Amino acid sequence: MAGLAEPYKIKSVEPLRMTTRAERVQAIRQAGYNTFLLRSKDVYIDLLTDSGTNAMSQGQWSALMLGDEAYSGSESFFRFEAAVREVYGMPFVVPTHQGRGAEHILSQILIHQGDVVPGNMYFTTTREHQELAGGRFVDVIVKEAHDAQNLDPFKGNVDLGELERAIVEAGPEHVPYVSVALTVNMAGGQPVSLENLRAVRRLCDKYGVKIYMDATRAVENAYFVKEREAGSEGRTVREIFREQLSYADGCTMSAKKDAIVNIGGFLATRDEETFEAAKELLVVFEGFPHYGGLAGRDMEAVAVGIQEMVDDDYIRHRVLQVRGLGERLLEAGVPIVQPVGGHGVFLDARRFLPHLDQEELPAQSLAAALYVDAGVRAMERGVVSSGRDAKTGENHHPALELVRLTIPRRVYTESHMDVVAESVSHLFQRRAEIPGLKFVFEPKRLRFFTARFEPLHPSPIFEA
Ligand code: F0G
Repeated sequence: MAGLAEPYKIKSVEPLRMTTRAERVQAIRQAGYNTFLLRSKDVYIDLLTDSGTNAMSQGQWSALMLGDEAYSGSESFFRFEAAVREVYGMPFVVPTHQGRGAEHILSQILIHQGDVVPGNMYFTTTREHQELAGGRFVDVIVKEAHDAQNLDPFKGNVDLGELERAIVEAGPEHVPYVSVALTVNMAGGQPVSLENLRAVRRLCDKYGVKIYMDATRAVENAYFVKEREAGSEGRTVREIFREQLSYADGCTMSAKKDAIVNIGGFLATRDEETFEAAKELLVVFEGFPHYGGLAGRDMEAVAVGIQEMVDDDYIRHRVLQVRGLGERLLEAGVPIVQPVGGHGVFLDARRFLPHLDQEELPAQSLAAALYVDAGVRAMERGVVSSGRDAKTGENHHPALELVRLTIPRRVYTESHMDVVAESVSHLFQRRAEIPGLKFVFEPKRLRFFTARFEPLHPSPIFEA
């Protein structure tokens, strides 16, 4: 399909090791059935995340040599700052080692004990930092987001009624900001419309509440707006991107996604007071404000990536590659979150494994089974990722119990996508044999990263 042909060619290659099923059975056992704990040498196609796993361009690689590694006053910082100003339209920016560094700083500055932070669905690290700062996250995403089969084009939207209720209930003085993610990762990479962003802005202005966006995948969001929202068809992604951000007081950013690099992030704002406070905390937790935990060369790569990410041909291919995988799975009858989102295809483990209860960790088990089948590494995004309720100690039971096949940017070819589609379809044929899992080790915070599991009963799925 012409639409899917890559708008780049390969200049440097990284060999992949082919493994046997017996080796993979051994590897997943050693990893405690947690795909996070696999060694990458044992993985054939790595769809764990699109975070920091991207292929940089020749422009980015050559920019690395320009890295000015001065502790203070680095030219690389000023090039990075200029890119953020130009593309995001934010006057003040501090670099951070990655997105959660920015979330930490922002949360510590703006959130006070007992505050409420409404947002369009939680993200793991974002909510953790809000809670560490004494806040409470309140989900105000539209209800369609929780339904894997609802075809609404903007399932990332904020439910305005719920947002107003959250602000009124807490009292606007106890709402430091509304957190709006573009796109919404945990909902399956679903976008927010410009119309919704404008309405959220009006509502927040009415109550004097700030908006901080999580701009991690905001380019994908802008592409969906161009594709789906009346009035934006003829605009460039760059223009739409800039308009999206115009409704925010500031943003946190994981450059490891949109900006097509391997490490980096930032906190940008229009508010000078917040910027001053951020610089003070930055020196404690990240580094001097002219590098914030990054090398000068990292900031150079981000600066170039910020320009490349808003190229229309690039982002169109990115989104269509992801969608192409989703469409192949749908043809095979595999249940996935629809519409297909921006950064990955999300398998709906509830419908894939209807014989398993959520307490039997269906998405975790499906991710482990997929690895054994073909060496494809995916990530659980369900009950394990969701953690336990801080008060009751019970597992959260998110409506979405998903396995995420996340596509790194500019890394895999269509043939790799074929392998993934075939393996998932194969597993779908054998789905009745996939057993549940139980925890054998469970850390307190962000448990999905390091927890270990065992199958509830022996199954050929996990045998050689
Ligand atoms: N916000 C969103 C929406 C994210 O997806 C992530 C990271 C972060 C913030 C934190 O950024 O990793 O640079 O500290 N998501 C990765 C993922 C880990 O795989 O989805 P970070």
